[in-house]
Amino acid sequence: MPINIEINDKIAIITVDNPPVNALSQAVRKGLWEAVERLDADDAVSLVLLRCAGRTFIAGGDVTEFDKAPVEPHLPDVVGRIERAKKPWIAAIHGTALGGGLEVAMGCAWRVADEAASLGLPEVSLGVIPGAGGTVRTPRLIGIKAAIALVTGGKPVKAAEAVRLGLIDEVLSGDFQSQAIAFAKRTLSASRPGAVSDKRIEESFVTNWTKIEKEVEKSAKGAHAPVRALACLRKAATASADEAVAYERETFLDLRNSNQAKALRHVFFAERAALKPEDLQGVFPKPVKTAGVVGGGTMGAGIAAAMRDAGINVVLQERDAQALAAGMARIESIFSASVKRGRLSADEAAVRMAGVSGTTDVADFSEADLVVEAVFEDLDVKRAVFAGLAESCRKDAILATNTSYLNPEDIFAQLPNPDRGIGLHFFSPANIMKLLEIVPTRATAPDTLAAGFALAKSLRKVPVRSGICDGFIGNRILKVTRAQAEKLLLTGVSPAEIDAALKDYGLPMGPFAAQDLGGLDIAAFQRKAARARGETVFAPIADRLVADNRLGQKTGGGWYDYQDGSRHPMPSNIVAGIVAEIRNEQGRAELPDGVSLADAVLLPMVNEGARILDEGIAASATDIDLVKIHGYGHPRWRGGLMYDAQQGGLSAAVGKIRRLFEAGLAEAPSEHLIAAAEAGRF
Ligand code: NAI
Repeated sequence: MPINIEINDKIAIITVDNPPVNALSQAVRKGLWEAVERLDADDAVSLVLLRCAGRTFIAGGDVTEFDKAPVEPHLPDVVGRIERAKKPWIAAIHGTALGGGLEVAMGCAWRVADEAASLGLPEVSLGVIPGAGGTVRTPRLIGIKAAIALVTGGKPVKAAEAVRLGLIDEVLSGDFQSQAIAFAKRTLSASRPGAVSDKRIEESFVTNWTKIEKEVEKSAKGAHAPVRALACLRKAATASADEAVAYERETFLDLRNSNQAKALRHVFFAERAALKPEDLQGVFPKPVKTAGVVGGGTMGAGIAAAMRDAGINVVLQERDAQALAAGMARIESIFSASVKRGRLSADEAAVRMAGVSGTTDVADFSEADLVVEAVFEDLDVKRAVFAGLAESCRKDAILATNTSYLNPEDIFAQLPNPDRGIGLHFFSPANIMKLLEIVPTRATAPDTLAAGFALAKSLRKVPVRSGICDGFIGNRILKVTRAQAEKLLLTGVSPAEIDAALKDYGLPMGPFAAQDLGGLDIAAFQRKAARARGETVFAPIADRLVADNRLGQKTGGGWYDYQDGSRHPMPSNIVAGIVAEIRNEQGRAELPDGVSLADAVLLPMVNEGARILDEGIAASATDIDLVKIHGYGHPRWRGGLMYDAQQGGLSAAVGKIRRLFEAGLAEAPSEHLIAAAEAGRF
């Protein structure tokens, strides 16, 4: 039974025991409903303490019920029943109380939490809103302003903040379960507070809804749920609680079936599955307690910071004392930036930094469980590094390369035991970007591979396995993005128009602005290497910009002009001139009817994704979705590149790609994409 009840000295203790996270399955909802009925009728009971077994309070809804029709008893009714119970309830929260878990707690007369608990309403991240009175009770408890932040932002708060807001009554320190019982005993003689639903909302903040709506819409970046959640809060602030509950339920059910919610559920399940690859079940890698990082440049410093954020000790190695000092300073500046943003206390930053020891000697890697190499992108330099690592590391240490474009098999070719070699491709900034491409070679042992996935989990990253090809999954598609954007300039549209089209689609930045931010030189270097291999790469305009030292923001101009160190892109007459010249040379192109600018960039990327699937570089279209979302800012609510194309209809996509091909603006649709269109799915 997921619900156990024990009665002692007038206090009924209900323990929810539904491992692993005490989710609100139908059995739990039913159990809670029946508990109210039974305890209300029991004269021996004056007070009810609701708590959970295991590692957490009710962490949220039951994910296995997400895609199914709602079944009774519905959560809003259960919470309402608890709120109107004759015997008052106390929620004792440890671990996390998210979504429905917090809504249940808000139905209780009192809420207490463990110091380490976190509480929140993250429903918007799944494309829905709190559907069990969350939008109605939260503003009544904490005021409308704080409720707007909690509900539309979806970010949880820690117990200390929750008590400050008024979301909970007390934070308990010491052994939580016994302290919760002590709280219940103290509360036996207290008078019962009025039901949360009966409270009035302090309305002083509610002045300009239109302004707030605009702000929420802007930060939602195309996602509907935060905007709809705000509408519910507005209703809660202006109508009766009953009316607001009805409006919330209607909004919840509407959003639950929306395309965005479906896309967000797709991503949610994909992320969960990504951490547990089926072929690695039962393979248990050794935990990583100490990691080595070779190279303290942009990537090495970010990787070291990410490791420290996860509590892993780091040994950073550089080629000489000066480079080492620069690398250590880079790591330090990452932590001090977090302190400035209020994400980290100064003390904690000092602890993180103290866990990094710097060296110029590879012999200092003797303790490391795993070493990540992030030196210059040069095969000989990398091989020399691994020769040194093979000598100085433990024989069972995992040896990883962060290479972007080189073949890890070439890098590890001279390793005496290449079974422990693996590509771990982080994204910049490595302490922030969630994607980790995991690139096994043919020699990589299963436990080495499993160690990559386990590391991703401890760094709270999203691992995606990639086969070996130029650029792996993500950067291979990125090359197509850039080439498409550049080809479209030949139709006479400006970089700003193309960037705007992709921002409208939901990307944080268009392809030209993104190149200016990252710098045009790295891609130019890769094109050079690709051409040396005999590949043709379309980039006549980018090549000209690089030749003219227009490398992006850092040189004051790239695809745009940047005046006086500003980061604000301004249309460039120089670029317009270069484009006009190239158009004259290459001939003009016409965007086919019915194909939008966004289509003309995105669909050829999908086509490349299909080739990646065909070659077995990515195991599934879903993996490509995760790469795009977590490495390149593809809007989560679109479900990812491949999912979105599939929702839009793959036959239509093939038709558009064909028309782009005929117009000289894209490659022909791949066999794999055509076959997927026939099947209706990837
Ligand atoms: P970077 O130039 O900023 O840093 C390289 C660092 O390696 C320098 O600090 C250099 O002193 C050090 N180094 C060079 N040879 C060394 C040696 N033999 N022993 C110890 N340290 C040595 O380069 P960045 O951007 O950090 O890139 C490093 C690697 O990460 C490259 O393979 C790159 O392709 C890859 N990468 C880069 C990304 C980016 O966005 N910058 C993203 C993902 C991967």
